[in-house]
Amino acid sequence: MLERKTYLNSCSYGALAADVIAALHQYIDDRVEKGTDWNYWVARNDSARQAVADFIGANADEVAVTASASAGINSIASALSFDRPRNKVVISEFEFPTNAQIWYAQERRGAEVVRVREVDGYIPVEQFETAIDEDTLIVAVTQVCFRNGARLDIPAIVEMARSKGALVLVDGYQGLGTFDFDVRKVRPDFVVGGMVKYLLGTAGIGFLYVRRELIDGLVPTVTGWFAQSDIFAMDTTRYDPAPNARRFEMGTPPVVNCYAAEAGLRLLAEFGMPLIERRISELTAEIIAEAKNAGYTLAVPDDPRRHGALVTLRTHDEDALVSWLEERDIVTSSRSGNLRISPHFYNDQGDIDKLYRALRRQRHLLM
Ligand SMILES: Cc1ncc(COP(=O)(O)O)c(C=O)c1O
Repeated sequence: MLERKTYLNSCSYGALAADVIAALHQYIDDRVEKGTDWNYWVARNDSARQAVADFIGANADEVAVTASASAGINSIASALSFDRPRNKVVISEFEFPTNAQIWYAQERRGAEVVRVREVDGYIPVEQFETAIDEDTLIVAVTQVCFRNGARLDIPAIVEMARSKGALVLVDGYQGLGTFDFDVRKVRPDFVVGGMVKYLLGTAGIGFLYVRRELIDGLVPTVTGWFAQSDIFAMDTTRYDPAPNARRFEMGTPPVVNCYAAEAGLRLLAEFGMPLIERRISELTAEIIAEAKNAGYTLAVPDDPRRHGALVTLRTHDEDALVSWLEERDIVTSSRSGNLRISPHFYNDQGDIDKLYRALRRQRHLLM
């Protein structure tokens, strides 16, 4: 992929690594060799769980392997009760739709959703301060905005929410894999993410982290046989949730995707997040500097503490620009009028040069 394309779209899909392709082939080889082996599938699910746990600094029993980030958020929402007075859910204008829609769906169950507004492309912590109060049950926020790349100050938001007695769910889909994030340091209550972007795996698999102390008190009402204490008890007379975060899973796990997820996470671990984070910040700094030199309008804050791996430029016609670049094998994407340029550690200066040479020819489409 990287030989054929200038690939700057990891905010959408990560580039498909040879190791991940090999892992997907391994799934097929295992199927052929083993025939049927459900215990082996459970083991592969557990192995993906362990890989996620190692990656975010959690224990394996705090991690559920899910089919998507949405599945994890839904499971938590189903375990919460939205009784007054603590029925408020604080989200932000930066959320990916799923982390808003699921909470609005809870309004039928008594939730009241409050949306923190952005100010000039950013949401400073003070904006959350006024929204989070003693009635707030949970604050559900993204690490990095999928539209413009702004990065929220998650540690400060976690601290503030906790001081008001509220839970915090972090949507790490646009952040994890681009900077170091350790749940032991930040202490969020929940984290969801998925594997198809910076974690280098594939679609159809995500995860949910739940802080150990909370697990016993949360009994999801969205469930399935893989969430039970004994998966193979096959008991149709009762609900017996697992004593660990597996209780937030549902049906047959996304086994084929577990292979890919593990391979992607292994690759990241081999390079190490400090190195990957440094490389990405060098690349984003360069992309921002080039944009400023060329006089293009950034949609993302240029302060390195306030953006993630995704850099965005304002356009007059996002679709025309993305297609024009695509025809020249430069892969980007767009949202809300912004051209999204999202490097990963596998990109280099040559990719940035090629992109900007191309953009100069389409100056009229950029603001
Ligand atoms: C911030 C964020 N959250 C969630 C998702 C996707 O969630 P799901 O795994 O439920 O499709 C995306 C995908 O683009 C995202 O950018």
